[in-house]
Amino acid sequence: MSEVVELEEAERRSRELAAILPPRISPPFTGSFIRSATLYDEYILRLTLRIFRTTGLAKAAETPGTTDELVARAGFEPARARVPVDWMLRRLGHRGILEQREVDGQSRFQLRGEVPVLDPAEILEAQRRQDASWQPSYVLAEMVAQDYPVFLRGERTGEEVLFSPSRLRLWVNFFSNDNGLYVVNNLVGAAAATELMPPAPVVVMELGGGLGSGAAALLDELRRSGRWADVREYRFTELVPFFMRRGQQALETRFPDASFLKFGALDMNLPFAGQGIAPGSVSLVYAVNTLHVARDLDFTLREIFAALAPGGRLVVSECIRTAPAQAIYIEFIFNLMETFRSPVLYPPYRPNGGFLAPEEWQGAMEAAGLIDVRIMPDIPSLRARFPHFQVGAVGATRP
Ligand SMILES: C[S@@+](CC[C@H](N)C(=O)[O-])C[C@H]1O[C@@H](n2cnc3c(N)ncnc32)[C@H](O)[C@@H]1O
Repeated sequence: MSEVVELEEAERRSRELAAILPPRISPPFTGSFIRSATLYDEYILRLTLRIFRTTGLAKAAETPGTTDELVARAGFEPARARVPVDWMLRRLGHRGILEQREVDGQSRFQLRGEVPVLDPAEILEAQRRQDASWQPSYVLAEMVAQDYPVFLRGERTGEEVLFSPSRLRLWVNFFSNDNGLYVVNNLVGAAAATELMPPAPVVVMELGGGLGSGAAALLDELRRSGRWADVREYRFTELVPFFMRRGQQALETRFPDASFLKFGALDMNLPFAGQGIAPGSVSLVYAVNTLHVARDLDFTLREIFAALAPGGRLVVSECIRTAPAQAIYIEFIFNLMETFRSPVLYPPYRPNGGFLAPEEWQGAMEAAGLIDVRIMPDIPSLRARFPHFQVGAVGATRP
């Protein structure tokens, strides 16, 4: 059964959230946002069903099997397909299309009956009527869905599917404050970073700044809250040259008076000191949805620790997993990326690739020597009532 909620119910949830969220964080979580999130979840489910039917995975699941068995039966390339197929099976299990049974510590999946045929276009139309600003997220998901079969069969890498030159425009539209889905990450991050920013003079370094939407939201918030003048330097860093150029252009156009803006390439998987970042020189390290693709999260957190001055802060805004093995809609897209699927693992705080739970962020940051870890909003206390509240900022301090 569809989990799409009508606007009236979404507005009731929005009011309930507003009563418990910190006032700085609650504004983006309107009824329209909450309904749109359920529409997008349904859209992704319908794309998933299409892939499930057309790739032979549904046929493979007519008899029970583990993820690895179903991957083999469907003739997919195991190294690439394992994580995305496991995600699809769990998502379809949650929806009741597959039966999921735990046998000897492993999940086994089996089709319950006919695979429903549900039209994604109906949902896209409902989204257009609700809030057309979510469109770039739909376009990206549809593009990815078209190439899922060749990806699963091992004929194209996920990076080729996602980042071919003709598709870069889709990312410009996706990582944008005009995209109703993405903007909330930037607003929550900007609110948290402003609240946790150390006193003046502040040297900010942003990691994976991309197309500049996270920086733009933070600069707007610093101006609004009267902290603009406290910034001595805002070092915007990024790995991918195309994103960097576009990000720089966007920020210089939008903030011509931000003379503190500096731009430089930085790969968070390599030592920062060799990339122009002096140890102890930064007061705030900021990153929006970037640290979860660090190849070795512990290494990157230790580099951040070393770059921070004593008393300096790390603030990350991230998509947060609120239950173990929860299948989050946006993973449908990012599961194609090798860096997302298969980072270096550190049980218990990095037990899998992709997004982390609040306790895992806390464990990872503390293991790197950071203290006073704070989650904004307090997702652990929200998650029983709002299991789909999956946006949060995590802050920590270098002692
Ligand atoms: C979710 S995006 C951030 C989007 C950005 N906040 C924006 O508004 O456009 C994550 C960013 O991390 C960057 N990234 C990926 N691997 C990286 C690495 N090893 N070092 C630094 N940045 C990296 C990506 O190129 C991408 O721009």
